[in-house]
Amino acid sequence: MTTAPQPASRPLRVLAIASGKGGVGKTQIAVSLAVDLAAQGRRVLIVDSDIGLANADLLLDVNPSWGLVDVARGLVPIEDAIIPTPLGPSLLPGKSANATELSDDEKLALMASLDSLGNSFDWVVIDTSAGLGDNPLFFASASEEILLITTPEPTALADTYATARALLRRTNRRRLSLVVNMAEDLHEAARVHERLNLLVKRFCAAEIDLAGWVAFDSSVHEAVMERLPIVVERPTSMAGKRLRALSQHLLKTPPSQIADSEVPSELRFFWQHVYGQASRRVPAEPASPDVEKFFGGGPLPRPTPPAGAPE
Ligand SMILES: Nc1ncnc2c1ncn2[C@@H]1O[C@H](COP(=O)(O)OP(=O)(O)O)[C@@H](O)[C@H]1O
Ligand SMILES: [Mg+2]
Repeated sequence: MTTAPQPASRPLRVLAIASGKGGVGKTQIAVSLAVDLAAQGRRVLIVDSDIGLANADLLLDVNPSWGLVDVARGLVPIEDAIIPTPLGPSLLPGKSANATELSDDEKLALMASLDSLGNSFDWVVIDTSAGLGDNPLFFASASEEILLITTPEPTALADTYATARALLRRTNRRRLSLVVNMAEDLHEAARVHERLNLLVKRFCAAEIDLAGWVAFDSSVHEAVMERLPIVVERPTSMAGKRLRALSQHLLKTPPSQIADSEVPSELRFFWQHVYGQASRRVPAEPASPDVEKFFGGGPLPRPTPPAGAPE
């Protein structure tokens, strides 16, 4: 593992990229954000926790030998599993030939290994798997900030709401952040945010902030075909610009999902602190029958984008 020597004065930020539905752009957004943050001098680690379907390595032009499961099983020290990438961030790969989930003991061992990295990084960006499984909920819960990714489709919205509700219940936080990907424009993203926020306010007594939006852009497909994130392959495309705006927004906005008093600046203490919450199992709750209707509803008025919404 190589990390550029830098003053370790910045507090660590641990950001999970999560979603209800698969294929909404989590990996593209996680890798693009990480690459852009690294381009701005931040020491960034991407943790690919989508164990079964890990593919962040494909967009980072690396060919890993070891992964997070090997670290969790004590087969390799974390320093040997983390690899530098030519695009800036380091990667803890997720690929595993024989696992899709981690046991509770393996999760603890992995957290202890991540703790041992001390202040080697400024940002840890965790690409999670989709849905309400134990693994994605664990990794998202164990993060200081959760960025929920959705597309405007009603199916994605219903899954995003179910995931938001599960995360809020599991972690006791009162705020989550949202990125609307593959949106037509800011108005559509604002409309999606408004619908989700309404539900979350009403049924979860919590709020969702709109952290950003990304346009549907065929350049993303072209970049993936070149095995590169859009911010590298087409930085000035619509999607590339929006993703760079998202990393700017995150850099400017301090994390707000967990009260300041509960976020110690040290990684070790932080993860130990959240582990209790992250491993807490909350019984499943049936989905509200109104939700599908709400998201499948007819035409909506165009709302004014919320104050402070990213342009
Ligand atoms: N803004 C976008 N515009 C067009 N296509 C996109 C956009 N974001 C992601 N995609 C495409 O969507 C697919 C799924 O993206 P991916 O990042 O792998 O999603 P996930 O990690 O959530 O499963 C990929 O084929 C990718 O090229
Ligand atoms: Mg993915």
